[in-house]
Amino acid sequence: MTKVLLSLFLAAIFVCPVESKGNNIKENEEKISFHQLLQAVSEEYVKNPSIPDTSQPKVVNPADVSILAGDNRYWVTIYASDKYERTKALEAGLDIVEISGKQVSGIIHAKSIKTLEEKGFVIALKMTLSEYAQEFFKDFPPNDSAYHNYDEMIEVLQKIADSNKDIASLFSIGKSIEGREIWTLRINSSVKGTQSSSKPGAVFMGAHHAREHLSVEVPLLYAVWLLENRNNPDVKKYIDTLDIYIMPMVNPDGAEYDISTGKYKWQRKNMRVNPDGEIGVDLNRNYAYRWGGPGASHSTWSDTYCGPAAFSEPETQAIKKFVEERDNLKTLISYHSYSELVLYPWGGVDEPIANEKDRKVFITMAQEMAKYTGYKPQQSSDLYVATGDTTDWTYAAKGIFSFTFEITPKSSYSGGFYPGIKVIEKTVTDNIKSAMYLLSVTHNPYSVLGK
Ligand code: ARG
Ligand code: ZN
Repeated sequence: MTKVLLSLFLAAIFVCPVESKGNNIKENEEKISFHQLLQAVSEEYVKNPSIPDTSQPKVVNPADVSILAGDNRYWVTIYASDKYERTKALEAGLDIVEISGKQVSGIIHAKSIKTLEEKGFVIALKMTLSEYAQEFFKDFPPNDSAYHNYDEMIEVLQKIADSNKDIASLFSIGKSIEGREIWTLRINSSVKGTQSSSKPGAVFMGAHHAREHLSVEVPLLYAVWLLENRNNPDVKKYIDTLDIYIMPMVNPDGAEYDISTGKYKWQRKNMRVNPDGEIGVDLNRNYAYRWGGPGASHSTWSDTYCGPAAFSEPETQAIKKFVEERDNLKTLISYHSYSELVLYPWGGVDEPIANEKDRKVFITMAQEMAKYTGYKPQQSSDLYVATGDTTDWTYAAKGIFSFTFEITPKSSYSGGFYPGIKVIEKTVTDNIKSAMYLLSVTHNPYSVLGK
């Protein structure tokens, strides 16, 4: 059922989809498919359509580690070489959970630790259950496990790059403040990695803001979809003639922190430790164009803290370098959530873009992309004036036709930053259409003005 619906969705994107099996795609058991990914999400939902939004406070999350704060149990690893030894450990009060060779791990009450030691067991590792949960339960809440965390995102990118070696490559544009690579998938039929290209370039970015996890799914699944449909004539012509970059997680540290306890932390900024100990700089206030002006805070504790200087953060530095090194970039979408808007510069001033031709291109493109998604097109500053965002800088510095998408949902009533898995399928399929439109004008954005 889901499969049928999904096929319809996909067919609707192109009137005449072409089967892309075989040909230049290497058969690979490990190959990951857009269908599978999206289906996994939908099946989880179909299995249990009453899955509650994790954003609703009534849901008690089994992985909420704060529940364990006053718990007197420990997670220990001991040595026990056979089942007799293990039985002895059990009798000493150890609840055996995992066995790996001679190592046995499990849960034991503080009061039983002495007994365990008296019986001669050597404790190789010991931590409170709460420490253990924090260490090992670093992921989305169970209901949202279909979303991709950092490692899962890398796994998908790696698989699709591996199975499309002739046209796809994966490279890092730089490291985050905690040292995570900011991975970028490149689709280009003639060059790889960081080699330069004269083909017109398009850039898709996700997750400048940590808690906006749906903004990772959209570019990530778009990458999967593009490569899977590489032989579709409409897709092929862009793959053959454009230089496409997809970086689904610009703020990986924040995104990982947001899910680090199995309960969302509502993190927005990166994980910079400011001199006063406050955490984070708002990456979407850290770009240089009109940096530090209206709509940006100079207080370290604020969620819109713009940092001590423009491009003070390694994440925005990496993007600066990436953009400055590539004169071929023509179009860009930076995905955020939420509100269902297609925003174009300026964001930092009330005035519209002075260059009339450019302004018309922006408005036309925004209107067109809004049609596919049902989002509302408008100038960024009509939402509010905020200086130092990505798209003001990419347009001001390099003339790139750049858009901020505030994707699904529309409001906090439909889930806000945490809308659950039920929205992934529609959000991704709608946004694929507007992303395809972006590619269709990337050769010459001015073509949207007609003759
Ligand atoms: N919600 C985003 C942010 O606050 C959107 C910014 C769009 N730019 C703007 N200047 N309004 O970063
Ligand atoms: Zn955002």
